[in-house]
Amino acid sequence: EMDRFVSDLMGRMTLQEKLGQLNLPAGNDLVSGAVKNSQLAEAIRAGEVGGFFNVKGVGKIYQLQRMAVEESRLGIPLMVGADVIHGYETIFPIPLALSCSWDTAAVERMARISATEASADGVSWTFSPMVDICRDARWGRVAEGSGEDPYLGALMAGAYVRGYQGDGMKQHNEIMACVKHFALYGASESGRDYNSVDMSRNRMYNVYLRPYKGAVDAGVGSVMSSFNTINGVPATADKWLLTDLLRNEWGFQGFVVTDYNSIGEMKSHGVADVQEASARALNAGTDMDMVTHGFLHTLEASLKAKAVTQERIDEACRRVLEAKYKLGLFENPYKYCDTLRARKELFTEAHRKAAREIATETFVLLKNDGQLLPLQKKGRIALIGPLADAQNNMCGTWSMNCATDRHVTMYDAFRRAVGDRATVSYAKGSNLYYDEQMEQGAVGPRPLVRGNDNQLRAEALRVAASADVIVAALGESAEMSGESASRTEIQLPDAQRDLLKALVATGKPVVLALFTGRPLDLCWESAHVPAILNVWFAGSEAGDAIADVVFGDVSPSGKLTTSFPRAVGQLPLYYNHLNTGRPDADDTSFNRYTSNYIDQSNEPLYPFGYGLSYTTFTYGTLKLSAERLPKGGQLKVTVPVANTGRYDGVEIVQLYLHDVYAEIARPVKELKAFQRIFLKKGETRKVEFVLDDEDLKYYNSRLEYGYEPGEFEVMVGPDSRNVQRVTFVAE
Ligand code: IFM
Repeated sequence: EMDRFVSDLMGRMTLQEKLGQLNLPAGNDLVSGAVKNSQLAEAIRAGEVGGFFNVKGVGKIYQLQRMAVEESRLGIPLMVGADVIHGYETIFPIPLALSCSWDTAAVERMARISATEASADGVSWTFSPMVDICRDARWGRVAEGSGEDPYLGALMAGAYVRGYQGDGMKQHNEIMACVKHFALYGASESGRDYNSVDMSRNRMYNVYLRPYKGAVDAGVGSVMSSFNTINGVPATADKWLLTDLLRNEWGFQGFVVTDYNSIGEMKSHGVADVQEASARALNAGTDMDMVTHGFLHTLEASLKAKAVTQERIDEACRRVLEAKYKLGLFENPYKYCDTLRARKELFTEAHRKAAREIATETFVLLKNDGQLLPLQKKGRIALIGPLADAQNNMCGTWSMNCATDRHVTMYDAFRRAVGDRATVSYAKGSNLYYDEQMEQGAVGPRPLVRGNDNQLRAEALRVAASADVIVAALGESAEMSGESASRTEIQLPDAQRDLLKALVATGKPVVLALFTGRPLDLCWESAHVPAILNVWFAGSEAGDAIADVVFGDVSPSGKLTTSFPRAVGQLPLYYNHLNTGRPDADDTSFNRYTSNYIDQSNEPLYPFGYGLSYTTFTYGTLKLSAERLPKGGQLKVTVPVANTGRYDGVEIVQLYLHDVYAEIARPVKELKAFQRIFLKKGETRKVEFVLDDEDLKYYNSRLEYGYEPGEFEVMVGPDSRNVQRVTFVAE
């Protein structure tokens, strides 16, 4: 039926109208003043627009949709996109944090709520999930993904898609997802944003492509191509990527949109001007052009010059129309324009409660000497730091749809949590940086401007002097991670680090509540600060969620999905690396002619999978049901896990595999399964995993998927470093 409907419609469309469907302008640039007189409105009436993105507010969106439906010749409704990345008005933790919950159900729930809110405000399409694997903490966009692991990344990708699209986008609160950035954007050389990627097919298939595939397998409706080149070819013009792999190999049925001006940027890549770049992008398999207007303005000439075919234009147009059909927009173009819903379904109590609960699952307790945490709700607490009461820094990247004055800070939440049982006194303590220009986002060589830091620090020390415990809220500001926020050094910003040193020097117990959008180099902190709780950017309910964990109402359970390095010089750093021919057996000292550094260990400071709890979990002996795994058979892996501490808690039990000999060198370990279990204090559970030969497969040097019989190691533990190991033979 969809086929017939779309064919009939296309039969009535002119070439320009077809090209209009392939055109995606940025709404916020084109709507100024009155919506009806904006440039965007003009283009919509002329049938030159397939959709637009990042216009906030159902009222404005309704007006624009009405122009398309009632004032354009064919009345084709528009898709309305938005960067709904970790919530819409109710903001959840950044995606990197969400992945540290290892809780796919929680991620699905957050995407469901995001879709409910976005759709209530006019949005039918989100540019999420971002599933780029990243192994380099210098890249600011590591904040937007699910970390360094392909297996977990693929599971998370599926959870996002299911959450947004629900039961096939039939309901008014289900929207279309767009998996991005296809492909390999997270491997930008030296962690510098928009930089080139050069990668073997083998690494692509075994590691980087898997989360995108996870989203495609979950039925994602659209794919966004990435800014970067891949082996010299801009992703947006890469036919192998967008057609051979995505369509022919993976069977993707939806449409491909470019990233912001990716077609235009091919000029800077030194590949083609807009005329030729548009043709190359279309021929490669790109269906929709975000912002460049290249498809709209150049493809007619390219068609005449036979640089593109009518069939390919029709195919792209069909895919965009099919997306609108699947969204139900032809049936009801105002499906997402219900102003009543917008009043009732945004930033609700229920959504905020979910955001608070989910946030508590994402915090990673990195250190807790002497069980300093949780704090009791008594005595005098000094809450110090530029992030303790900064509403604009609670949510991190991509949270522009929520007014910052709604965000709950730690200072608000702590006072509420302790009531009159304790006192909470606050001091800012420092600016984010010494350099005020840096605080405002300026770049380049500049003089160091010292502001009022001495005064701020003196005030903080005065507040600390009369306290029993200090909670320091420090870290990156929201702008320091996300798009276009690469860093060459990844320690705490200078002014805050000096403040922390001064606080530790008081001799009082110090808890560091660490805000960050990326792994940081925490060598000094881990050596000197007794308790470190990594809270990332936790969203609009950040303050309350942090209070829930700091005061022990919830025990932390997050585990890192990205390695925390000891030094920026270790990057890229990841747990699932190859062994090399000269592995470094002893990590505590330098060993000449083995693969290591003269000045630093190979090991991360905090490994993938790591995170503490207030309680302790004790692992019993790891057992296999047999010593051999027959072809097509199964193997049971069991380990008893006991909660031996004083709190109830959640543990994430992880299983890794290592192929001892293979046709190509294989990683020292790879995550293959995990279980997130809740254990009451004193409780023991036998955790059971079932392995089969699917778990052993990989892409060999000829990109054949399979495995060779032989020895495998299976490892189970609370993180990727601390594992028990047993071997079996696969037949
Ligand atoms: O979705 C984003 C993308 O991640 C980066 N460039 C702009 C797009 C639309 O805002």
